Amino acid sequence: MAEVVIVESPAAAGTLVAEAVLRLVRSRPDAVLGLATGSTPLPVYEALRARVGEVDLSRVRGFALDEYVGIDPAHPESYRSVITREVVGPLGLTPDRIRVPDGSVEGIEHAGEDYERAIREAGGVDLQLLGIGGDGHLGFNEPGSSFASETRVKTLTEQTRADNARFFDSVDDVPRHCITQGLGTILRARHLVLLAFGEGKSEALAAAVEGPLTASLPGSAIQLHPRVTVVVDEAAAARL
Ligand code: GLP
Repeated sequence: MAEVVIVESPAAAGTLVAEAVLRLVRSRPDAVLGLATGSTPLPVYEALRARVGEVDLSRVRGFALDEYVGIDPAHPESYRSVITREVVGPLGLTPDRIRVPDGSVEGIEHAGEDYERAIREAGGVDLQLLGIGGDGHLGFNEPGSSFASETRVKTLTEQTRADNARFFDSVDDVPRHCITQGLGTILRARHLVLLAFGEGKSEALAAAVEGPLTASLPGSAIQLHPRVTVVVDEAAAARL
């Protein structure tokens, strides 16, 4: 059963989770963080930024959850750019210790297994940050994804493309494919920290935490994990 912590605001969630990250890095300076994109984890990165200097983060390693396929890595909305801009730069992480799946079309054939190998060689992820999509997706594991899945190329659903259109000039500019850690990959992290804010996430969150274990709701995979902390505001917790 996941530990559910209800906090009064996203900022309070950020403070709480940042503390857990700093505690981890104090005990293990080369800790491996699982980094999430989207708006949900931003308060965590902000809270960490406020505390840069308290702990040496230069040896921390990190693996992003996912990336678009076929996007120029230099595009401001590639997850490579987002992670660099919002996490690596502000926190002073060492760029070559932070990996994002390779979404370039040329390398795509081996990108999944290369990424899995890199995570394994790093000793696995210690703490995985997670947001959840309105349809219950984790990373880009859309409904129907196998609980055993590993890093691989997927087709984005029209709903997710529409949701992410806000980051692009138009929905037509949103890539159609992505490369994402699988649910199996995510479940191998030693500690999962799932964040959700706002009423719009309440249904997916309740289904993930309390609903039946089903591939139709990828977030329900967290019920298979022995150590999950769910940090939510009142609105996201409304249906628990
Ligand atoms: C994208 C990301 C997910 C994220 C989800 C929710 O699809 N690939 O990792 O959890 O969006 O986004 P947000 O946190 O902005 O609500």
